Amino acid sequence: MRQAGRYLPEYRSVRKKVSFLELCRSPELIAEVVRQPIERFDLDAAILFSDILTPFEPMGVKVDFPEGGPQLEFTINEPKDVKRLSDFDIEKELSFVFDGIREIKKILAGKPLIGFAGSPFTLASYLIEGQASKNFNNAKKFIYQHPKAAEEMLELLTDVVARYLEAQIDAGADVVQVFDSWGGILSNDDYLRWSARPVEKIFSQLANKKVPRILFVNNLAPYIDIVRDIDCEVVGVDYRMEISDAAKSLPGKSVQGNLDPSVLFGTTENVVRQTKRIIDSIKNPNRLIFNLGHGILPETPIEAVQALVDTVHNYR
Ligand code: CP3
Repeated sequence: MRQAGRYLPEYRSVRKKVSFLELCRSPELIAEVVRQPIERFDLDAAILFSDILTPFEPMGVKVDFPEGGPQLEFTINEPKDVKRLSDFDIEKELSFVFDGIREIKKILAGKPLIGFAGSPFTLASYLIEGQASKNFNNAKKFIYQHPKAAEEMLELLTDVVARYLEAQIDAGADVVQVFDSWGGILSNDDYLRWSARPVEKIFSQLANKKVPRILFVNNLAPYIDIVRDIDCEVVGVDYRMEISDAAKSLPGKSVQGNLDPSVLFGTTENVVRQTKRIIDSIKNPNRLIFNLGHGILPETPIEAVQALVDTVHNYR
């Protein structure tokens, strides 16, 4: 959850010299900012440095990050706009990602690398809204006003994400994670249709690659019975529910999460206490991957992150 990012001075110093997009497109700089938190904290796994919106530009939609937050050049407002989205040569147009993965692998000394992509519904939501949104109401309206066009868009995104993750695995990613950041705004049956089904399709296409598949759902609790039936190895749990309840509802799967990132702004004592509580709540340690429940916030104190990592490494 944003291992590299604005809370790290060494990341900010790279960002002083290049824009976020330039950083995402440079294999050498990608490897550099992935290395930074691994070196500083001795984390146990690394995540690729990129963004879930990286595939938009070759699909025909330029994205900029003027104040850190994404801004799309145009939005999908009506069915005919979907025709503006195009399939593309993933290996060629996103070669900087795969070169970045190969550069990272050289410096990880055997630690696993997590590749990632956005879920088709989350990506569609950004395409419709054009930027981050409070409740993604336009995305919800679109699927009711134009279900056929929405389906067409999701089919294209599902195919792109599946092939994108396959190519990340071929380049060296040891694990893949799908971020479903916005499926959690949907009613239960809409979640199944518009968010879970496309993810299932992606994971089934990846099954023969034999790498662990992680699904992170922001606001998992209402959909946990649907997620239970998705074929994947790990479920990322946001901070709203008890991770032990998630584990009980997800037999056969491991769980990843779920410390609230804002806990890192409180006392070190409380960071340590909350971290231990999560570890204690999962009886079988092989079923837990400790992580935050969502992205680390820009002004997070580094000492709090250090206390968290030390606790995870030394407890038990
Ligand atoms: O964790 C990592 O270090 C890996 C890199 C990573 C980034 N974005 C880098 C980034 C990952 C895994 C993401 C995923 C991502 N991006 C998601 C899914 C996870 C989630 O948050 O639910 C989403 C929805 C996005 C879209 C996005 N990109 C947003 C909403 C923003 C603004 C974030 C903010 O805090 O302002 C970005 C920009 C972004 N992506 C930054 C980073 C390090 C900040 C850019 C900067 O350096 O200015």
